Formats: sequence, structure tokens, C-alpha cells
Amino acid sequence: MSTPLWRSPSSRTRAWIMVLVLGASSSAWITAAETPREATPYTQGKKTRDGLGVYYFGREIAHYMTHLAAPWLERPERDTEERPDLVLKALALKPGDVVADLGCGTGYFSWRMAQAVGPRGVVYGVDIQPEMIELLAEKMKERGVANVTGVVSTVKDPKLPQPVDLAIMIDVYHECSRPAEFIAAVCRSLKPGGRVVFIEYRGEDPTVPIKALHKMTEAQVKLEMTAQPLDYVETFRGLPRQHVIIFRKRAAL
Ligand SMILES: C[S@@+](CC[C@H](N)C(=O)[O-])C[C@H]1O[C@@H](n2cnc3c(N)ncnc32)[C@H](O)[C@@H]1O
Repeated sequence: MSTPLWRSPSSRTRAWIMVLVLGASSSAWITAAETPREATPYTQGKKTRDGLGVYYFGREIAHYMTHLAAPWLERPERDTEERPDLVLKALALKPGDVVADLGCGTGYFSWRMAQAVGPRGVVYGVDIQPEMIELLAEKMKERGVANVTGVVSTVKDPKLPQPVDLAIMIDVYHECSRPAEFIAAVCRSLKPGGRVVFIEYRGEDPTVPIKALHKMTEAQVKLEMTAQPLDYVETFRGLPRQHVIIFRKRAAL
């Protein structure tokens, strides 16, 4: 005769329940302890003065530039050292475009791109440091620029409010502490055919007077982007000290 479910179990049944409960909980404990740590694309290595001691594709990630150094981003000689006019030409923005200026700092490039996309377009000035976003707001107010919107991001997520035509990182990518997750999130926020552009001081050129970890070679950028759903398009090499490396979102198969 079968035991009704609402009756208290016999001592033999209770013993079996104990075996099953203890067995289940101890196997759960063993499983948790033995589960391998989450796979990571990063490795720990020698920590140099300007770096985190964390390596991605063999490159040590640099410390980010603190907002206390923000005046350096607005130095007058920057116009001749970085030729923003040539950068804007290379980007070929169209009126109405939506742009993410990732790691915008004080917005040295944001307002220029805002002019290029015009009043129907928008530039999201994105930065992990809220102080930079405050400086961005001040600078845009001073210039009377209305189509730049500040966004405080995290190291893994740019927190873009809408899909963008262009995501650009000017002197930023080398100091992203979680480049794999950050660029993957950027790619998810690209419109079909949207572009990701990296402007970095040329790591191949020893005459560029910038600390080694704050420069990148074109080969390294291309290598790291093999992990992302991006296709390489071209590199503009006409700037005095930097290169402009352009990728496009890979079309879904
Ligand atoms: C050297 S500054 C360049 C600022 C600006 N792009 C320019 O050219 O004037 C680098 C900026 O990138 C920001 N940054 C670093 N990692 C970031 C990330 N994962 N997401 C957004 N901003 C980041 C820093 O806070 C800093 O403001």
C-alpha cells in the first residue's frame, strides 16, 4: 500500500530523505568549490609605473588620465599637434549623425563633431569620471553648443542611450581597464554599418613624445579587435603624431 503524501514519513523514509538532502547539499558544495573561475581574457603580469599590471593580448593596460590633468587636454598647442581639422575630414560625418565620443574628457573633440553633425545630430560625451562630464558641460555652455549630451559610463559599459553611427575613442582605448567588455558593449550600441574609430599616438614611432603605455601600434589595435564583431576598414596616417584606425560593425550573417 502506498503512503499518503500528507502522512509523516516512517523512520526508514526519514533516513532516505536525510541521505538525499545531505548528498544533494554536499554535491552542490563540491560543485561550487570545483567550478573553474570565470574565463578571463586578461592576465596579471609585471606592473610598470604607468600601467595596471593587467595585460590584454600581451599589452599592459595604462592607468587612466585623472581629471586633475584636464587642462592638458585644452592646451593651445594641441591644435597643431593633433590637427583636429584633419581628423574631422577623415571622419566624414554627415548632418544628423549620432556620435559617441567615448572618453570625451573636457570635450576638445565633442564640440567639433557636434558642429559637423548639426542640430539634427547629437554627440554623446561619455566618460567614467563624473568630474570630466561636469567639465564637458561647462565647456559646451561656454561655446553655446546644445547638441552634446554628457553620459557617465562604467569601465564595462558606455551606457549609450541610443544606437550610434560612430563610436570614437581619441587617446582613450589604451587606458580602458576592461577593453573586451567595453568594446563588446560599444558594438551592441552601433547601428548596422556603424563605425568604431580609434585615434592613438603612434606606438611604432619612437619620436612621438608620449609615454610608451599611452601609445599604441596599429598592429596591436587590429589584433585586439579580432575579438570583436568588427571589420577593419582603413587607417588614416596623415596626422602629425597619431593614427586614425577605422572599423565597421560586421554585418550579421
Ligand atoms: C587622455 S583623456 C582623452 C580625452 C579626450 N578624448 C580628448 O582627446 O581630449 C582619456 C579619457 O578617457 C577616459 N576613460 C578611460 N577609460 C574609459 C572608459 N572605459 N570609458 C569611458 N571613458 C574612459 C578618462 O576618464 C579620460 O577622461
